[in-house]
Amino acid sequence: MARIIAITNQKGGVGKTTTAINLSACMATLGRKVLMVDMDPQGNATSGVGIERADIDECVYDVIIGGSDSRRVVRPGPIEGMEVLPSTLDLAAAEIELATEISRETRLRAGLEPLRENYEYIVIDCPPALGLLTINSLVAANETLIPIQSEYYALEGLVYLFGTVQRVKQHVNSGLKISGVLLTMFDVRTNLSKDVEKEVRREYPRMTMRTVIPRTVRLSEAPAYGKPIILYEPSSKGALAYMELAKEVVQSGEEGPGQGTGRADRFGGVEGGAATRGDTGKGDKA
Ligand SMILES: Nc1ncnc2c1ncn2[C@@H]1O[C@H](COP(=O)(O)OP(=O)(O)O)[C@@H](O)[C@H]1O
Ligand SMILES: [Mg+2]
Repeated sequence: MARIIAITNQKGGVGKTTTAINLSACMATLGRKVLMVDMDPQGNATSGVGIERADIDECVYDVIIGGSDSRRVVRPGPIEGMEVLPSTLDLAAAEIELATEISRETRLRAGLEPLRENYEYIVIDCPPALGLLTINSLVAANETLIPIQSEYYALEGLVYLFGTVQRVKQHVNSGLKISGVLLTMFDVRTNLSKDVEKEVRREYPRMTMRTVIPRTVRLSEAPAYGKPIILYEPSSKGALAYMELAKEVVQSGEEGPGQGTGRADRFGGVEGGAATRGDTGKGDKA
């Protein structure tokens, strides 16, 4: 049964899509069977791995609204071991259409059910909003990975996201966990990036991923070639960082109870604590 990881942050431009593509491709490089699901109507994750609009007959919209069999909608990915459930602009209508549907929060979970046994990991790229598409992703997921840009205000808005995660847990998906907060676009040359990292690790000591993703122009170029970084420039810093992340994510799932510290710490009380703080503290004032 696949471990389902939703990449969420209601802010745009923090590295969600870059992380969805490259985490998926790097886990496939490690020999894992991975499905990447594009839940953003912009379809950047779809085009970023070289799947063109003209080649898409049905997309994730048809799965969650039209009841299409997701197994038919899956497309080959850019690398062996990786497949893709694509999105198109059609999906933009889903946000509105879902509002009046029965079981509107569980459509994606139901749609992915026939696929779960075919993969070890399903990675969902979410849109930059906390609407029904992101809620559907959190309901379908076992966990969520939260990329944040290494800039001022990196933590701004996180309490809302934690609050949303907490509500999804309470009402529909009690097993949902926060796998971690991932620092992206880290600029090694600036003190700002270092200061932000310090602050994030102080605020969320066990929830922050060990791996940090550097800011590199190669990572921003690769989607134009329809390639994950591991194919576009395999020895680049960006490729090495996403390979590290893939290993960290895979390991966090394989550590048994009492082994190591990563999973127990990260998935244990911490994330509950953060969400509680989000519900009662800063979030109310922000
Ligand atoms: N580590 C990075 N270094 C340089 N550019 C990056 C990096 N991560 C993302 N980008 C670029 O920043 C922009 C926003 O990233 P993206 O992954 O699309 O964010 P989101 O999906 O959260 O909106 C894109 O143009 C992307 O290519
Ligand atoms: Mg995106």
